[in-house]
Parts: sequence; C-alpha cells; structure tokens
Amino acid sequence: PESISVQDLANRMSERGADVIRTLMKMGQLVTINHTLDADTAELVVSEMGHTPKRVAEGDIEVGLGADQDAPEALQSRPPVVTIMGHVDHGKTSLLDALRATDVAAHEAGGITQHIGAYQVNLPSGQKITFLDTPGHEAFTAMRARGAKVTDIVVLVVAADDGIMPQTIEAIAHAKAAHVPMIVAINKIDKPGADASRVRQALLQHEVQVEEFGGDVQSVEVSALKKTNLDKLEEAILLQAELLDLKANPERAAEGTIVEAKLDPGRGSVATVLVQRGTLHTGDVFVAGAVWGRVRRLVDDRNNSVEVAGPAFPVEVLGLNGTPEAGDEFHVVDTESRAREIAEYRARRDRQAQLAKAAGGRGTLEEMLA
Ligand code: GTP
Ligand code: MG
Repeated sequence: PESISVQDLANRMSERGADVIRTLMKMGQLVTINHTLDADTAELVVSEMGHTPKRVAEGDIEVGLGADQDAPEALQSRPPVVTIMGHVDHGKTSLLDALRATDVAAHEAGGITQHIGAYQVNLPSGQKITFLDTPGHEAFTAMRARGAKVTDIVVLVVAADDGIMPQTIEAIAHAKAAHVPMIVAINKIDKPGADASRVRQALLQHEVQVEEFGGDVQSVEVSALKKTNLDKLEEAILLQAELLDLKANPERAAEGTIVEAKLDPGRGSVATVLVQRGTLHTGDVFVAGAVWGRVRRLVDDRNNSVEVAGPAFPVEVLGLNGTPEAGDEFHVVDTESRAREIAEYRARRDRQAQLAKAAGGRGTLEEMLA
C-alpha cells in the first residue's frame, strides 16, 4: 500500500516536520517524525497545509507545488500586493481613493467604482499594483492569525500635522512581526502645521530608519487631498517590489487567500479572493476552508465579468456552496468529488472541535497545545 513518512512528507512540501505533526494533532493523530502515514491521511495533511495533493503513481505521493517549488523558468514577475495602515484619520481611505484615481483607465466614462475589498491600479508604464482595502489593523491581524500571508508591502500613513500616534506604533509592530517591508507615506503635507522631518525623526524612536537617516525605509511626502506625489509613492512601491523580486507561476491550478466573503441576497455566497499562484478560471473546482463549488462567475474590481484571474489579481468568486472566512486559503482541485471530500472532512473536523469544546470545557487538543 502507498505510504510516506512524516519526515518525507514534510520535505516534499518544504514544511517543517513539527508543523506536519501539529497538523496531524489537529486531525486527532499523535505521531512522531518517523511515523508512516497512509496515502489518504497524507493527502489530507497536504490539503490542510494549503498544498494541492496529487498522487502520481502507485507508491508515490507528489504534493502540490508552492511558489517556491515551481521550476525557476516557470516563474514570472507579478504585481506587488500592498496594504495601507496608519492611525485613525491620518488619511488611509483618502490615499486609497487618490491612488485608485491614478489608474490609466480612471478617467474613462463613469470612472472607477470599486465594489470589492481590493483593487488593482494600472500605471501608465504598464506596471500594476494591487491594493488591499482592509478595514484596518484588525483584518490584517486576523488574516495573519489564520496563517495567511497576502501582503508584500505595508504603506504606513502618518499625517504630517499629527505625527506618530498609538495606531501608527501598532501598525509598525504588525509590519515588523509579519516581516513585511514598510514604506512611509507622510500625508497631509498641504496642511499649514505639516512637518515631515519631525515625522522622520520621531520614527527613529520606533526603530524605523528612513533613508534620510541612513536607513533603508523609503519615505514619501504626499497629499491625498491635493494628489501630490502619488506617482512618487507608486515609484517607491515598485522599487520595493523589485527588491523583493516577486514572482509566481501563472501556469498552474490557482491557489490564494480569501480576502472577504459575504452572503449576497441576490447572488448567493460571494468571496473576494486574491490569487497568489496559478490562474483561476471560470469553471474551476474550488475549495476554501469547508466550502467548495464550481466557479460560476469571476468579477473584477470594476464589476466586469472576467474569464481568468492570474497572480496578484483580486477577483470575486461566485458559485460556492457556502461562505468561507477571510484568511482561508483556497485552491483549485481536479474534480468535484475531491473538493467535496476535502470540504466535508474539514466540516467534520470543525464540528468535532466544537463538540469537544462544548462537552469538555477543557478546550480542543489544539488549544491545549497552543
Ligand atoms: P479612518 O478610516 O477613520 O481611520 O480614517 P482614514 O485614515 O481613512 O482617514 P480619511 O481618509 O478618512 O481622512 C481623514 C480626514 O483627513 C478627512 O477629513 C480627509 O479629508 C482628511 N485628509 C486626508 N488626506 C488629507 C490630505 O492629504 N490633506 C488634508 N488637508 N486633509 C486630508
Ligand atoms: Mg478610512
């Protein structure tokens, strides 16, 4: 019969053995690194850890390829994914709106009416930047707590007339904890009391060293209101993206993260997803958490139906049998039966965890180990 050791499975996924053991614990199995798993269990572990399982031959289980395991020649540059954070009223929403208006198509009839929690800006140079319109630090933290890593770059907005405030400090801590590079947008420079150099100076106390002080954090003085230096901010983002050398293989089954999801009275379950690897097509079979479905329609940030969505492309997915949670990973699998199997397994596991919690009051195994 087909089997694989925990260690081998970890190696093939480029995951740590301890994380595989932890995943197995969540599934109710206590094993050691040398334990041998049957193929069905191995497949579930692989799916659980966000990879796509694939049995290629008797006695051999090949797991799905994360971006790092794609052949180097299959990788292509992809747009950066940016989250804007900062203290209340420092201009996050204004800046997102102003940046959206820099899109080359922004002045076409009707302009751009964004309706999903993420959008892509097409720059005159042909380059693109994806912005996540997260409602704030909570969403960022919640996604991260679920293991989702969607943001490549954080733009920290600091109002030049107000300076470093509690949520500025919080945002710095989040970006650092997530190892996401930061760019400082010193906003409201049009205001009489604006003092950009004071902001740069104050950042030093929070271990953010901007280039002007010999560090490697870029800072750009902007005004979201007057639309000043938005191109400079975009240049800074693209420069940072270049340093990160962001790449993905577009030629594979899609994987990514749920950015938000809701039950729409007219359209059923609607999930906004960010494709991180591969290309999502209408008709694909899709699993996210304990939810699955065949993609009936893809809708972009301009409310246009699209046939495909590649890496760093945010898109709405219609056709799911339920509403996944923000931060859930999704992936495309070969068949509906496979999707149903994975989703049902997870639903069963979630139910069991809830029952265990309700019955024992001692928490789930996972919580006891946390
Ligand atoms: P929350 O979502 O409440 O945390 O606020 P926010 O960070 O999204 O700030 P928002 O964009 O709502 O802006 C707050 C206020 O600052 C609004 O009255 C904006 O008009 C104003 N504002 C934003 N950017 C600028 C700017 O560049 N210059 C000036 N003068 N005012 C600005
Ligand atoms: Mg806002």
